[in-house]
Amino acid sequence: MFITFEGMDGCGKSSMISAIAKLLINDGYKVYITHEPGGTIVGEKLRHIILNNKMDPIVEALLYAASRKQHVIEKITPNLKKNIIVICDRYIDSSLAYQGIGRGIGIDKILKINSLNNDILWPTLTFLLNVSPDVAKSRIQKRKTTKKTDRFDNETMLFHNKIQKAFLKIAKTYKNRFIIIDANKKKSEIISKIFKTIKNNL
Ligand code: TYD
Repeated sequence: MFITFEGMDGCGKSSMISAIAKLLINDGYKVYITHEPGGTIVGEKLRHIILNNKMDPIVEALLYAASRKQHVIEKITPNLKKNIIVICDRYIDSSLAYQGIGRGIGIDKILKINSLNNDILWPTLTFLLNVSPDVAKSRIQKRKTTKKTDRFDNETMLFHNKIQKAFLKIAKTYKNRFIIIDANKKKSEIISKIFKTIKNNL
């Protein structure tokens, strides 16, 4: 099973992923946690380039896709073949939301870029942690003191609003694999809902 977590910056994906992975491991499942951009040596180098430089939106979309391709070939597919549950913090839906809608490249072009010589490997389940842009922003601001911020964290509120709407639109398009989670709720409630959904699909 290939599970992805999506949502705007500050939605709480990473802490949710580690909590869910712990529960699955306790239940005896093998789990591989990874993230994008990155997840491989080449991918981490691309991550550094993307997150620390201003560039043309198409170039940016190509670099995200390059990082993803390497990730799928080197890590995601081999783990899935070994029956390991792969959980990825961001994947193609981030490109659809940020580059496709946020930067205005268009969904079709992003899909094209991501399927240059193979079909796209789609996730089995995608959890969208939907949080209000105000909550996300305040979480990001708290983070500023503890973690080095990248340029996305400094985006305007308008952009955050746009990204939230973009994710909801993408979730509607791909409603068979998307589960929208109200991430303003209590953490324990969110964790149990996600865990139950995964178990029902295993
Ligand atoms: P991430 O490390 O998940 O940051 P955060 O913890 O703030 O969610 O992702 C870094 C940034 O990369 C994030 O702002 C979203 C962006 N991104 C894209 O724009 N397109 C993509 O395809 C991916 C994977 C990420």
